[in-house]
Amino acid sequence: MPSFMEPFRIKAVEPIPFPAPGERSEALETAGYNLFRVPARLITIDLLTDSGTSAMSAAQWSALVSGDESYAGARSFERFERVVTELTGFGEVLPVHQGRAAERILLHRLLRPGRLCVANTHFDSTRASVLAAGSEAIDLPVPVPSGTVLPFGGNIDLAALERLLSGPDGGRVACVVLTVTNNANGGQPVSLENAAQARRLCRAHGVPLLLDASRFAENAYLVGTRSPAHAGATPRELARAMFDLADGCWASLKKDGVANIGGLIALRDPELARRCADQLIETEGFPTYGGLAGRDLDALAQGLLEVTDPAYLRYRAESAGWFAERLERAGLPVVRPAGCHAVYVDAGRLLGHIPPHELPATAFAIELYLAGAVRVTELGTLVFGRPDPAGGPDLPAPRELVRFALPRRVYTANHLEYVAEVAGEVAAKASAIRGYRITEQTGALRQFAATLAPLGDTESVRS
Ligand code: F0G
Repeated sequence: MPSFMEPFRIKAVEPIPFPAPGERSEALETAGYNLFRVPARLITIDLLTDSGTSAMSAAQWSALVSGDESYAGARSFERFERVVTELTGFGEVLPVHQGRAAERILLHRLLRPGRLCVANTHFDSTRASVLAAGSEAIDLPVPVPSGTVLPFGGNIDLAALERLLSGPDGGRVACVVLTVTNNANGGQPVSLENAAQARRLCRAHGVPLLLDASRFAENAYLVGTRSPAHAGATPRELARAMFDLADGCWASLKKDGVANIGGLIALRDPELARRCADQLIETEGFPTYGGLAGRDLDALAQGLLEVTDPAYLRYRAESAGWFAERLERAGLPVVRPAGCHAVYVDAGRLLGHIPPHELPATAFAIELYLAGAVRVTELGTLVFGRPDPAGGPDLPAPRELVRFALPRRVYTANHLEYVAEVAGEVAAKASAIRGYRITEQTGALRQFAATLAPLGDTESVRS
């Protein structure tokens, strides 16, 4: 029995597809063995991402109807702005259509060629914006000695940050970013103490501290449960304590906005906000709608109120922990501790017989699809590896992980139980699984379009 219960009841339902085994293998072949190219109508349980895949509440659906679609100064913007300012304490609020638009606009105002952007770990799209501005993205994740489990594995390495800021390259650092939670590092949280120390270092060197607050509420909840010093505070208070340490933030609201589209920039500095707004007009729209419809802003404002509900966050964290346990019991090597937005499985350990350049994480994800039409993301050599300039096998990723992302309020414990069963079937046949080779790829972000081909015979695990 799960230790939690969904703190909502279901009001609208959407049937899910159950493609037959033959349809699955045909779909994969047509898609060049790339799960991004498989149509969603052929997926039973889709754990590709928690981004933009949330189920909205009845209150959000009704907020849509009161959306004000005025071009400038809509009531919907006023509501959104009020909710964001009350939550974050930032007086300057700019909506954008999604997180990467916020990154491009804000980071291009702060960065220029030769500057450095330092983070606990940059998410892919953040790194892409930094590089596009001609700057360098430096990741300083806290070191996690192997075999240890850190409660705040999303932290920034403070000693390394101090060395960088006070060293010869210190003057090139344009900003320090804390991604909360740290998506590219297992969805682990950042502690308030770590953020406070990062702020102290930033202050001492006159460098702004920014948050990528896409999962701010989940981070706040994990701070409350993993740090005895903050056990009595509400997620909303803990989120505010984190925002209070920063000079500004951006967020993809497709995550903790609990809606299907949207993002924001929120700042203290009116001058920086004005410069962002100028750019926003050029690429997103007028600054009071930022590429969104008025109704989207209303749904987001409501979502931002709901997401800090302790009952919701408890269910969110406990369902992820329960799912991690189910996967572990089914024989999967799960990365611990589980965060909130996803559970990560170490496919490299499960498929030790497949070398990284034969894409063990991809092979595992493909077998999950074949076994039960479950879709997950590979975070191994296909995503983080690189072709060898000397023409040898691909340079491997540090780990061969697979992410089972958990859309918000979409799947019940029964759905996740099904996924664990399917994963268990795949794990039981692990030694028969073969690797893949890339047949076609394009530059950076090759995972989205690459086509692959199986190496050898994997028929025995495709029942
Ligand atoms: N920052 C973080 C931490 C993210 O996880 C994402 C997106 C973004 C920024 C970009 O936001 O998609 O709205 O433009 N993460 C998704 C994921 C895509 O699947 O983890 P966006």
